[in-house]
Amino acid sequence: MKPTLALIATGGTIAGLAEDSAAPANYTAGVVDAGALVAAVPPLRELANLRVEQLCNVDSSDLTPAHWLALARRVQALTTDPAIAGIVVTHGTDTLEETAAFLALCHRGDTPVVLTGAMRPANALSADGPANLHDACRVALAEDSRGRGVMVVFAGEILPALPLSKARLGLQPYVAGAGGALGMAAGRPRFFHPHQPSPAVLDAAACPALPEVAILYVAAGTPPQALRDALRHGARGAVLALPGSGTVPRAWEETIAEACSAGIRIVRGSRLASSFVPSRRQDLELGTWAAGALAPAQARVALIVAIAAGLEQLPAALAAQAR
Ligand code: SIN
Repeated sequence: MKPTLALIATGGTIAGLAEDSAAPANYTAGVVDAGALVAAVPPLRELANLRVEQLCNVDSSDLTPAHWLALARRVQALTTDPAIAGIVVTHGTDTLEETAAFLALCHRGDTPVVLTGAMRPANALSADGPANLHDACRVALAEDSRGRGVMVVFAGEILPALPLSKARLGLQPYVAGAGGALGMAAGRPRFFHPHQPSPAVLDAAACPALPEVAILYVAAGTPPQALRDALRHGARGAVLALPGSGTVPRAWEETIAEACSAGIRIVRGSRLASSFVPSRRQDLELGTWAAGALAPAQARVALIVAIAAGLEQLPAALAAQAR
């Protein structure tokens, strides 16, 4: 008997259509619906019985933390259904790393959750979506995927949900930090090593809303007023994309220390394309947290989750990376 796979579609380029299939740079994301995405990949029907649902159909730049919460609640409900062997989420690539991080920090149980997308719209010549979707479904159904939590499958690779960044254009836009890929997705999925998924820190079903958290890019001479402005507009935390490995300019120290002592959570991140921000003595002095291996977009997700869950540090597995 075939296993049952749940597929939740959210939009993105994988569901995009170009005006001219030979010139796919001009296209609209989030047009093709979930049923048509699946129908375009006939071998999927041989792999599993598919339960397809459409959460939304948008460019991922239009997703918000409210969408993450709705998606995480839906995933949580599906993971408690013993009939579901795996879950695939189709998503735009531009903010996929944020949704993947959020789902990873909410995920419970052994059911694999796999996010995928595409860099070329559905009707482009050589569209990459069908192969990515097929690979994602195979990974979600693989026995060896059970207990590995949330993963991203793209361009033949199995990547961790955290740390992950969209770092470039091209058919493999993601970079997975020092740990690299978890395995190969093309053909029979193969994992390179055991993987410890981040333990769940937020119960999405019990969380009514997520706090506002800002990301502030700190260039030479950027005044700390930017932080005061963000807090005045309701931010309960901020990730600073700082120079180098998270160096706080002297001009920012007082404002940061004041904010932290007022209960605002501030994460020291790095604006480098590839960096690691370790904890320093300065974190104790100012009250900041270090982003570790997380780039600012994922550090913001971790901070949102930490505030929503009432944690006194970034989620444990991530804090360990910051040491
Ligand atoms: C999007 O993120 O929705 C558009 C870009 C993409 O999917 O590659």
